[in-house]
Amino acid sequence: MPNGLYGDRHNSSGLEFGHRQSLQALIASLAGQTTQVEAGPLVPGASGQMETQPVLSPADRSRAVGTVRNAAVADVDRAFVAGRKGFARWSKMPVEARAACLDKTADLMEENRDRLLALLSAEAGKTLDDGIAEIREAVDFCRYYAQQARKLFGEAEAMPGPTGESNRLLWRGRGVFACISPWNFPLAIFLGQVSAALVAGNAVVAKPAPQTPLIAFEAVKLMHQAGVPADVLMLLPGGAEVGAAIAAHPALGGLAFTGSTGTAQSINRTLAAKTGPIVPLIAETGGINAMIVDATALAEQVADDVVMSAFRSAGQRCSALRILYLQEDIADGMLEMIEGAARELNLGDPALTTTDVGPVIDEKQKAMLEGHIADMRKGQKVRYAGTVPNTGNFFAPHIVELDKPEALTKEVFGPILHVVRWKAKDLGKVIESINATGYGLTLGVHSRIEQTIRTVTEALDTGNVYINRNMIGAVVGTQPFGGSGMSGTGFKAGGPAYLMRFALEQVISVNT
Ligand code: SER
Repeated sequence: MPNGLYGDRHNSSGLEFGHRQSLQALIASLAGQTTQVEAGPLVPGASGQMETQPVLSPADRSRAVGTVRNAAVADVDRAFVAGRKGFARWSKMPVEARAACLDKTADLMEENRDRLLALLSAEAGKTLDDGIAEIREAVDFCRYYAQQARKLFGEAEAMPGPTGESNRLLWRGRGVFACISPWNFPLAIFLGQVSAALVAGNAVVAKPAPQTPLIAFEAVKLMHQAGVPADVLMLLPGGAEVGAAIAAHPALGGLAFTGSTGTAQSINRTLAAKTGPIVPLIAETGGINAMIVDATALAEQVADDVVMSAFRSAGQRCSALRILYLQEDIADGMLEMIEGAARELNLGDPALTTTDVGPVIDEKQKAMLEGHIADMRKGQKVRYAGTVPNTGNFFAPHIVELDKPEALTKEVFGPILHVVRWKAKDLGKVIESINATGYGLTLGVHSRIEQTIRTVTEALDTGNVYINRNMIGAVVGTQPFGGSGMSGTGFKAGGPAYLMRFALEQVISVNT
């Protein structure tokens, strides 16, 4: 793992890989504490629903990690009414004051890292490595966006005045911004969206994924503690009906969404059908991400990078490798090595220091993956299926050899690697197949031929291209992340342009 912007990443959240035993003891000791989390709407005057629901651990469905009381649909309007008032004050505050709240949130996350790590493990099924990386990413998002906001929004920019006028460009918040986030990075993506929207001067209505409301609840409480007022950042836990009411609300100033392409398209239709202001959408979705490996690649490194990219995090990253193109000449040997490496993975309880791959998020996701493998068995070759524990939502790594790339028609979000063989003369066809998916998020290339790397990189509109390495874990401020086409709208998260999408430009021309 490379270092990030904020010093040694291993220390940026005060966690070191060397202390695995004590981390495990920590998770065990916090297991009781995490059952205390009782999440609910954080909106002034919210009623919430009458009933509370248990939040179950993906690794052990008999274990309740906490409870959630979802927002009532009427709370959505309450949040926008409060948010308009909060926005009126927050947007006028100096950018330094808003940025300081983000820095303080980062400090508080570092102080509360043990509890956050335990919760990531219990609620989202994160392994310790993934939990540590996620806390670091959330910390980096807060510090990076604070730094960017000071640069971008600090002073109005003087523009040329050839006609003798004084022209100044400044940026301001758009109003009440909605942030709708996924369960696979319930802390980092949640806080990445929220911190960007806040620091740009917006009030925020945040809806976490229904599977992971507890960590979002804790994160919002930390932001409130860091100085963000209760009517400037609000939390609306709930399902699709809450999301739909947020997207349809007439006071919506903008919407940031990370999740599936289908949901992004549906939100886009809702926004497009609105009368009144045209509401901007920032969408980050998924991809049928490919890795192209030619005969010059370093075999051991390919095996390592493929297993890391396809199976780690149980394949539940939007960046994860879905389809591997292996040059025919080396395919048999490579597949043996990849299978061998996959066999070495430890699957099981994410709170154990020895675990490499934890559970998938819920029963629905597990059933979807099982259904996909059943479909694949009808015409394709399932050449490897690992074994999994009986408890919880575990789904073993699988390797499926496709007779042609078109046999994979959709993003399959889990630890399933699809493999296609290609002939040296057919690199152009490989490129066509990847472009034909309509997605463009991540791409891996393993080759020691400069020309191949250049050809592939230039021919594909992929947002993040990784050469001779794995293709997951973009570092904030260093590898801005996001794609195009069916993979999203941009701008890239953790990049220098991201904050601009959350702000309005205003030009003031004064006749002097
Ligand atoms: N940003 C993550 C990564 O790069 C994916 O969501 O892996």
